Amino acid sequence: MGVSDFNDTFKEKRENKGAQNFNDQNDSVTMVLRHKDIRKCAHNWKNYQSGGEEIGRIVIPSEEDIRDIRQIPFEVDPPEHKGYRDLLETWFKRPIQNEYIIKLTKIIENIIDENLNKDYCEVVSEFALVLQSRALTLLLNIPLDESKRWISWGTHVFRSEETNLDKNKADILYDYVDSQIDVAISNPGNDLYSFLLSSEINGKKLTKEEVKGIMILTFAGGRDTIINAITNSVAYFAEHPKSLKYIKEKPEIINNAVEELIRYFTPLTQMGRVVKEDTNICEQDIKANSKISLCWASANRDESIFEEPNKVILDRKVNPHLSFGFGTHNCLGASQTRSILRILLKVMSEKLLSIEIKEAKENIEDLKVFQRKVGFNTLKVQFKS
Ligand code: HEM
Repeated sequence: MGVSDFNDTFKEKRENKGAQNFNDQNDSVTMVLRHKDIRKCAHNWKNYQSGGEEIGRIVIPSEEDIRDIRQIPFEVDPPEHKGYRDLLETWFKRPIQNEYIIKLTKIIENIIDENLNKDYCEVVSEFALVLQSRALTLLLNIPLDESKRWISWGTHVFRSEETNLDKNKADILYDYVDSQIDVAISNPGNDLYSFLLSSEINGKKLTKEEVKGIMILTFAGGRDTIINAITNSVAYFAEHPKSLKYIKEKPEIINNAVEELIRYFTPLTQMGRVVKEDTNICEQDIKANSKISLCWASANRDESIFEEPNKVILDRKVNPHLSFGFGTHNCLGASQTRSILRILLKVMSEKLLSIEIKEAKENIEDLKVFQRKVGFNTLKVQFKS
C-alpha cells in the first residue's frame, strides 16, 4: 500500500449488518453504514435531528464538554434552519464567481511558487494550513494579512496534538470571534461579520450570539477538512505522477477529479443525529433520544452505488458521493472547497514536473471501535518544477 491509499474501514460491517454500535463518552451510538440508509436518515430531519438541547452532541467525538455555543445552521433543525440557510447561501456561493476565482488562483500560484524546489516543504503546516487560511480571508472578505494569526493557531482549532478535545484551543477561537464581532459593530465593513450583523431573518436582526455561532462554524468546519483534502491530494499526485500529467493534458476532467478525490478521502468520517422517536434501522431497534451517526466514509465505498469503489478513477462520471453530507445540512463550504481543489489541481499540473515524498506520518482517527486514516501529521515533499 502507498501512503496515499485509504482503506475501506467499514466494509465488513456495512456488508453484513449495515450498522455498527459504539460508545462515545458513555453515549451509545448506532453508526449507519450503507449509502441508501444514510441518505434516508439525512433526509428525515423530523426523526433524526441536529438541533436539540445538548449543544455539541451530534459531533463525534461529542463536543458537549467543550462548547456551549450552538453552531449555526448546523445545530438547528427546520423550519428555523431555512432562515439561516437562505441568508448564508448566496455569500457561501461567492467562490464560484469569476472575480473570486482570479484572486484564489493568485493565492494558490503564490503558495506553490514559495515552495518550489525547496529541499522540502512540510505540506500540512507550511502548505495546506497556509492555503486554507489565506483562502478563508477571501470567503470572509477581509485582508489577506489576517491569515497570519490563524496560521499561528496551528492545524487544529479544537484539538491539540496531545488531547482529542482541547478547551483552551476552543477558547482562543471564541475570544477571537467575540473581538472581531465587536470590531465589526463599531466599524462596519464589507466582511462576513458586518453582513451578518446587518442582516435580518423574518424581520428580526441577528443577535451577537447567532453571529458568533455562524462564525465559529465557518472557522471550525472548514479547517481540518480542507487541510486534509489538500494534503491528501498532494500525497496522491506524488505517488501518481501519471495522473498529474493526465490532468495537464485533459484539464476538462478537473471537476470530476476533484469529486473523485473528495469521495475517496472523505475528509469528514461521520456526523451524528439525535433520534426523536423510537425507530428501527437495519433491523435494529433504536430508542428515542439515543444517537445515530451517518458514516459518509462508509457510504462512499458502498459497492451497490460505486463501481470499483476502492479505486481512484479521476474521470469517474457518476459520483453521488456523500463527502459533503446530504439533504438539509449539506455542506455550505462545498463551493469554497471545490474552487480551492480545482485551482490547486490545475496549478500543480501546470507548474510541477513531479512531487517527491521525503517523509510521511499518517494521521489516524482512533475511536477505539475503529481506526481510520484521515490525513497526515507530517508530509514532507519536494515540489519539483
Ligand atoms: C473538504 C472540505 C469539507 C468537507 C468534507 C465538509 C463536510 C461537511 C459535511 C459532511 C457536512 C454535513 C454535516 C451534517 O449533515 O450534519 C457539512 C456541513 C457544513 N459545512 Fe462543511 N465540509 C468541508 C468544508 C467546509 C468549509 C470550507 C466550510 C466553511 C468555510 C464548511 C462549512 C459547513 C457548514 C456551515 C455546514 C452546515 C450546513 C448546514 O447545517 O446547513 N465546510 N460539511
